[in-house]
Amino acid sequence: MTKPSSSSSTQVKTVIVPAAGMGTRFLPATKTVPKELLPVVDTPGIELIAEEAAQLGATRLAIITAPKKQEVLAHFDSFPELEELLGARGKEEQLAKVRRASQLPAPVAVEQEKPLGLGHAVGLAEAVLDDDEDVVAVMLPDDLVLPTGVVEKMVEVRNELGGSVLCAFDVPQEDVYNYGVFDIEEADYNGEYRVKKVRGMVEKPDAESAPSTFVATGRYLLDRAIFDALKRITPGAGGELQLTDAVALLIEEGHPVHILVHEGKRHDLGNPGGYIPAVVDFGLAHPTYGPHLKKVLREIIEEHGA
Ligand code: UTP
Repeated sequence: MTKPSSSSSTQVKTVIVPAAGMGTRFLPATKTVPKELLPVVDTPGIELIAEEAAQLGATRLAIITAPKKQEVLAHFDSFPELEELLGARGKEEQLAKVRRASQLPAPVAVEQEKPLGLGHAVGLAEAVLDDDEDVVAVMLPDDLVLPTGVVEKMVEVRNELGGSVLCAFDVPQEDVYNYGVFDIEEADYNGEYRVKKVRGMVEKPDAESAPSTFVATGRYLLDRAIFDALKRITPGAGGELQLTDAVALLIEEGHPVHILVHEGKRHDLGNPGGYIPAVVDFGLAHPTYGPHLKKVLREIIEEHGA
């Protein structure tokens, strides 16, 4: 099969970044600090996601925020006084770091008054879309999918197969109980990626009853039809409006939904158990901190008798 041409039809203008959750798994830090601003080494998770959106060529970041989480948007402002001070002191490297976020795709705030679920959060973003946008990407800011660039591949799959494309990971069978698991069948696709057709999804099944080992992760390329589906779902698991329920509704109605199985790694920044390894991973790769961190980590591991 030939690769999709560069004149492909899908151009993602808007990346929706839901950041209005309560972050309860990260209390007490999230009493006052939004979890999306917790630093991975020195850069907040949401800035890493904004960079990924810029790499995709998106021009708008629709950030879903809660009334008490305005700092998330403030991170993308410019800071003239700080910039002037750093400039005057010749701190060019720090100046570049301060400016980086304000040079990324323009963020638009979409307020979610109450955390009624990811589906509800995503649905609110329809208000900021242009009429000609027939597709959106959703990137969860607490989920790092590495190497970046997976949504570009999902765009290629949509160009080939239409509909919506979700990112999946293949996990060991014993780990599936933690995730939304895809029920899949072979796709009519002979391209270079691992692509499956989605029949349905099961939330957090037992390892024995799971329909596959392909699990959902925080990257979605969604046809605009998702917004209509989101208006028609009712609260699901946890009393929240679930994005996966709207996807399930689309599938029922014959809308094509595929997964692209990502060959890489991910870090779940949404809880300390995933956040700590992410910081270690990025720290080890960091030219300034890496060598020292490696040495110290060895000592710490030895001290803990591992
Ligand atoms: P999570 O379930 O991981 O985030 O939602 P949470 O609800 O903040 O986490 P816990 O369970 O309380 O620890 C995934 C993403 O969706 C956003 C979150 O901010 C997170 O980035 N979200 C979730 C919303 O924007 N609104 C919601 O109503 C729920």
